[in-house]
Amino acid sequence: RRTLRVALLGAGSVGSQVARLLLAHGADLSERSGATLELAGILVRDVNAPRDAELPRELLTTDAEALILGADIVIELMGGIEPARGYVLQALRSGADVVTGNKALLATHGAEIFEAADQVGASVSYEAAVAAAIPIIRPLRDSLAGDRIERIFGIVNGSTNFILDSMDRQGLSAEEAQRIATDLGYLEADPTLDLEGFDAAQKAAILASLAFHTQVSIDDVHREGISSVTADMIEDARRAGYVIKLLAVCERLSEPAGDAVSVRVYPALIDRDHPLASVHGGNNAVFVEAEAAGPLMFYGAGAGGVQTASAVLGDVVSAARRHIAGGVGVGESARQSLPIAPFGHI
Ligand code: NDP
Ligand code: HSE
Repeated sequence: RRTLRVALLGAGSVGSQVARLLLAHGADLSERSGATLELAGILVRDVNAPRDAELPRELLTTDAEALILGADIVIELMGGIEPARGYVLQALRSGADVVTGNKALLATHGAEIFEAADQVGASVSYEAAVAAAIPIIRPLRDSLAGDRIERIFGIVNGSTNFILDSMDRQGLSAEEAQRIATDLGYLEADPTLDLEGFDAAQKAAILASLAFHTQVSIDDVHREGISSVTADMIEDARRAGYVIKLLAVCERLSEPAGDAVSVRVYPALIDRDHPLASVHGGNNAVFVEAEAAGPLMFYGAGAGGVQTASAVLGDVVSAARRHIAGGVGVGESARQSLPIAPFGHI
C-alpha cells in the first residue's frame, strides 16, 4: 500500500488534536484512505515551548520548506495570512493537496489559492473553516450543487455565542465569559477577530461564495461585532422575549438588472421561540434555504480543538483518497461574478 506523507503546520488548539487523533487512529484512517498516512512533521514557532505530553516532540520542526516540499498532504492550522498563504501556495505548487481551517486566509486570498490548486490539479479542502465540526462546506459544494440556494443565515461564531449565551443565561460578565471561552480554545489568537465580527464575516464570505458560485471577499461583508452589546441590552431583550445573537446572513437578491448578493454580520434580536435562540454555548447553527430542497438546518459544535479536528481529519481522508486516485482539482476557481448589494432584507 502506498504511503502518503502528511505535514501538519501548527500544533495549537486544533493542530495538537489533529496530531493526537491522527496518531491514535492512524491504522483506521489509513484503512479508510486506501493509503498509509504518515505524520511526517509538525511545524511550530518554538519547538521548546511547553506542550501536551501526547504530542511527539521529535516531530516538531521550524523548517517549513523541508516539511512542505516532502509532503503529499499539507494541513495548515497556523491561522493568519502570512506566512500561511505562502506555505499553502508552495504546497499546491509542489503537487500536495491542502487541508486548512483558515477562514481568514480563504476570505481574503481564496481566489488566488483556488486558482493555484486548479492550475496543478490539486485540491484545497476547508470543512473546518466554517462552523468547526458541522459539515456545511461539502453539503454546499457537492450535495446542493444541483439546487439554487436563495439564503443562508445563522450563528457561525462559537466564542461570541458562548459569551452572549453565558451573559444571558448565567449572568456572567462579558470579561468572565470571554476568559472561559479562551480556556476552551474557542477564540482566535487575536480575540478582536471574534469580538468585532471579522471571523463571522470571513465565514459568511466563504459560505456566500460557495452558495452563489461567485467570489465574495471579507471586504464585501457588512460587519458589526458584539463589543457594543451590554449586559443591560441583554436584560432588556430578555424582558421583551428576545435573545441577542451574532447573526450571519447571506442572500441572493433577485433585482431587475439580475441577481446580486448581500452578506452581513450583526448582533440581532432573536425571538425566544426561534430555533436559533436554543443554540447555546460554543455551538453554531446554519439554516440553508434552497429552491428545490426547501429549508435545511445544520447544527453542532462551532469551535473547539477536538471538535474541529474531526472536520480536518475528514478532509485528510478525502484528500488521501483523491491523491492516490490521481484525481483532479474540484474547479473552485471557475466562479461567476455577481454584484454585491450593500443591504438586504429579512
Ligand atoms: P493556535 O493559535 O492555537 O495555534 C497556532 C499554531 O500555529 C501554533 O502551534 C503555532 O506555533 C503555529 N504557528 C503560528 N504561526 C506560526 C509561524 N509563523 N511559524 C510556525 N508555526 C506557527 O490556533 P488554533 O489551533 O486555534 O487555530 C488554527 C486555525 O484553525 C486558525 O486558522 C483558526 O481560525 C482555525 N480554526 C480554529 C478553531 C478553534 O476552535 N480554535 C475552529 C475552526 C477553525 P507555536 O505553538 O510554537 O506558537
Ligand atoms: N474563533 C472561532 C469561533 C473558532 O469562535 O467560532 C471556530 O472557527
